[in-house]
Amino acid sequence: MEARTAWLLLHLLGAAIWTGGHLVLALTVLPRALHRREPGIVLSFEEGFERLALPALFLQILSGLFLLHGRLPVTRWLAFGSPEETLAGVKLLALALTLGLALHARFRVLPGAGETRLRSMAWHIAAVTLLSVLLLVAGGLLTAAV
Ligand code: HEM
Repeated sequence: MEARTAWLLLHLLGAAIWTGGHLVLALTVLPRALHRREPGIVLSFEEGFERLALPALFLQILSGLFLLHGRLPVTRWLAFGSPEETLAGVKLLALALTLGLALHARFRVLPGAGETRLRSMAWHIAAVTLLSVLLLVAGGLLTAAV
């Protein structure tokens, strides 16, 4: 098997975990927590999910950088000069936003308390989930682009 194929398969496995897990969180776990006004429901899901999701995100970054490096010179990664460069740029910006939201959640939202904390958690989950779907769609379009 070619190295690129192996990285692509790992990238797909990471995408299944990252995007799939966030969809489960946003569409089934979060509504239950909001309905019962119980942040603990989200926290107990995240405790287990984190153990799989963080390595998966790390894998996405590593495999994604390898795959991108094989397609475009680093100087064109944020050039937005062609459809392929635009998709690559969208992926990099979505990644930066995801990392920013993750840090904000870890240090500002999760240590908080009360009703505002649950609402703030909900916004974070919705944003990270939408970004994860965007990363998946932009990735699929990138692969289809050649
Ligand atoms: C973090 C969440 C991410 C998800 C869910 C995701 C998802 C995907 C998916 C589903 C594909 C399509 C693969 C196929 O059609 O076979 C793909 C392709 C791709 N992704 Fe990602 N990705 C993520 C992050 C990244 C990052 C951080 C980068 C680069 C810095 C990246 C770069 C690429 C590239 C270059 C391709 C095209 C691969 C090729 O066919 O050459 N991805 N991604």
